[in-house]
Amino acid sequence: MQNNIFSGLFVGQNLITIKQIDSTNNFLKNSLSNSKPFTEGTVIMAESQYAGRGQQQNRWHSEDGKNLTFSILLNPVFLPLSQQFDLTRAVSLGIINALSPLLGDQLKIKWPNDIYYADGKLGGILIENMVQGGKIKNSVIGIGLNINQEKFPLEVPNAVSLKQILPRDYDLKLILSDICKNIEAVYLKLKAGHFDVVRKDYFSRLYWLNEHKMFKANGQIFEGVIENVRDDGVLILNKGLGTSEYTQKEIEFLNK
Ligand code: BTN
Repeated sequence: MQNNIFSGLFVGQNLITIKQIDSTNNFLKNSLSNSKPFTEGTVIMAESQYAGRGQQQNRWHSEDGKNLTFSILLNPVFLPLSQQFDLTRAVSLGIINALSPLLGDQLKIKWPNDIYYADGKLGGILIENMVQGGKIKNSVIGIGLNINQEKFPLEVPNAVSLKQILPRDYDLKLILSDICKNIEAVYLKLKAGHFDVVRKDYFSRLYWLNEHKMFKANGQIFEGVIENVRDDGVLILNKGLGTSEYTQKEIEFLNK
């Protein structure tokens, strides 16, 4: 008898687990050229990645077998390219909704899509879209979450794991199934056209929202307040003398 702990409709129903791979994102991206591509909602989870990728060409490091490193295949053909940031919102929120029964209100989304607990980075998301005719044909959603790792290298001083916050061991597959269920639920809200709800919920979970904090852009350090995130994902900061707009590459949050 098979016990399927994945209770959603499609995300995670086809689960591929693998011991080692370069990157779960690469695996799903490469699979798209197969004559018989995977079904929507296919998830690949790896115990270890030897070339895990993060945002902005960074590497993603994770101790073998301790954390969640997985990718989900979605086909959001209903989403115009101009609204691709709504997918970022949906995935971030799905993770937040899955983990907030454990972690509560200190769990936040650091714009655009880092998962934070207090001032520590619990996880990150790397979304890679395949576009055709102005629509997103396929989206590979890569997620790395620090779960059972107890120590992090000095290069990632602000990393934190679930075990460091609430000390016990976690069953990776159980957490994965919960995340899949929650991402699916928010994704289906998008599909049903409820963009406003998803945008409002994302906004309410933003790290540093309405707080006076330090940022760096164009080589300059300044104080600002996160005031808004435009529908297309651009960050709006109030710098005292009016507002400025930033894309991800243009601005850095200065935590210290
Ligand atoms: C970030 O820089 O914050 C994004 C990290 C995303 C890492 C995940 S781990 C699973 C998937 N495969 C990859 O190569 N990267 C993503």
